Amino acid sequence: MDNSSRLMLAVVMVIAYMAMRGQTQNSTVAPNATNTANTTANVTTLTTVAPIVNTTVTALTGNISRAECGKTQLCAAVPDNCDPSVAGSCFFVSTQQSSSQTFSFQLRGVSSGYIAVGLSTDSIQGGNDTTYVCANNNGIVLFFTALLNNGNLTITNTLPVNSVKGSVNNQTIQCTFSATVPNATATKSSDTSYFISLSNGIFANGILGSPTAVLFSSKRVDLGDPNTNVTNSLNNTTTTAAPSTTARPSTTAAPSSHAFVLQHTLSQALLILLGVLGMMML
Ligand SMILES: *[C@@H]1O[C@H](CO)[C@@H](O)[C@H](O)[C@H]1NC(C)=O
Ligand SMILES: *[C@@H]1O[C@H](CO)[C@@H](O)[C@H](O)[C@H]1NC(C)=O
Ligand SMILES: *[C@@H]1O[C@H](CO)[C@@H](O)[C@H](O)[C@H]1NC(C)=O
Ligand SMILES: *[C@@H]1O[C@H](CO)[C@@H](O)[C@H](O)[C@H]1NC(C)=O
Ligand SMILES: *[C@@H]1O[C@H](CO)[C@@H](O)[C@H](O)[C@H]1NC(C)=O
Ligand SMILES: *[C@@H]1O[C@H](CO)[C@@H](O)[C@H](O)[C@H]1NC(C)=O
Ligand SMILES: *[C@@H]1O[C@H](CO)[C@@H](O)[C@H](O)[C@H]1NC(C)=O
Ligand SMILES: *[C@@H]1O[C@H](CO)[C@@H](O)[C@H](O)[C@H]1NC(C)=O
Ligand SMILES: *[C@@H]1O[C@H](CO)[C@@H](O)[C@H](O)[C@H]1NC(C)=O
Ligand SMILES: *[C@@H]1O[C@H](CO)[C@@H](O)[C@H](O)[C@H]1NC(C)=O
Ligand SMILES: *[C@@H]1O[C@H](CO)[C@@H](O)[C@H](O)[C@H]1NC(C)=O
Ligand SMILES: *[C@@H]1O[C@H](CO)[C@@H](O)[C@H](O)[C@H]1NC(C)=O
Repeated sequence: MDNSSRLMLAVVMVIAYMAMRGQTQNSTVAPNATNTANTTANVTTLTTVAPIVNTTVTALTGNISRAECGKTQLCAAVPDNCDPSVAGSCFFVSTQQSSSQTFSFQLRGVSSGYIAVGLSTDSIQGGNDTTYVCANNNGIVLFFTALLNNGNLTITNTLPVNSVKGSVNNQTIQCTFSATVPNATATKSSDTSYFISLSNGIFANGILGSPTAVLFSSKRVDLGDPNTNVTNSLNNTTTTAAPSTTARPSTTAAPSSHAFVLQHTLSQALLILLGVLGMMML
């Protein structure tokens, strides 16, 4: 390299460094409005496919029944084949396919706290299982979507759910909702076969206690196949109301906003490095 090349390289690097500093300092400002508009357009396109997240609960009148079990709905219950429309300790869930990954759910159970239906991709409860929760908040039904990991339910409320209806009568909680379930297998274009579970737990001060499973299917069941018989792998569970121990508060980590800024800076540095390398080749 001759002297003028070295000089040019030094100048380029100084300019690049200044540009990087300037852009880094500005990288936290709101994105350009034009880009934002394009992102919004894309999000809107997606939400016409997947239902909007709306966990507002309206009143459910009447009782969930098993009239459509084996006809249009897949059903699971504890005790086996119990009737959810009559008083008593019956845990029940049914699913009815409305489009590929979207199902209407009917959920009924007994608890002073909450009842939940979980979808697991493996035979172990946990590992971020998709969980839909109906909670009794002093006689008012609250609905949550959550992930179950290590026996802990973390409320996310990000899963596509809408049309939530609910009722609570003494300790009997009922709710119905429409949910777009995730692909059971990420590599398949559509897969709705899951290990399905029913649980209850305590709900205190807005915190969901660890769930107690009353049902966990012995094998994967296709939520869209009404002809499947769900066998419970937990054959010795008692279907009593949730224990009255106090909830253990769980702390969830706040999402980090630094990750984006760091990534942004790194990609800029990489671009500049490539630019410098390009100049050196001239
Ligand atoms: C940040 O951007 C604003 C407007 O685009 C500009 O006026 C300002 O000089 C920039 N700051 C730095 C440090 O480059
Ligand atoms: C946003 O970007 C577009 C195109 O890249 C540009 O025309 C426009 O001036 C930018 N707006 C602002 C506010 O920087
Ligand atoms: C926004 O999207 C439209 C259509 O997809 C495209 O033509 C346009 O160039 C995009 N604008 C920006 C700033 O990316
Ligand atoms: C959505 O964004 C991708 C990449 O950002 C773009 O290729 C695509 O055209 C966009 N779709 C619409 C409908 O704007
Ligand atoms: C569950 O999700 C959390 C947060 O996204 C992640 O840290 C954890 O590793 C996941 N656990 C499993 C078993 O996938
Ligand atoms: C959410 O659902 C409730 C009840 O179904 C409805 O009244 C409300 O308008 C919905 N909100 C939005 C933002 O769609
Ligand atoms: C609630 O339960 C109590 C005792 O178990 C019963 O006397 C009462 O009628 C029940 N209330 C309703 C509305 O079912
Ligand atoms: C399921 O996953 C595959 C692969 O990631 C994707 O192509 C497909 O669109 C997904 N289907 C649904 C309904 O989410
Ligand atoms: C499910 O159970 C019913 C009644 O026990 C039986 O008639 C039916 O054949 C079973 N279906 C399957 C797919 O095993
Ligand atoms: C119930 O569980 C016990 C022990 O896990 C097992 O030996 C028994 O066969 C099971 N009964 C049924 C009907 O599945
Ligand atoms: C159910 O059976 C399993 C193994 O067979 C045992 O570990 C568990 O304690 C039993 N649960 C109850 C409530 O009896
Ligand atoms: C549940 O979460 C709490 C707080 O994050 C943690 O202390 C506890 O160990 C977790 N329980 C399990 C079984 O991992």
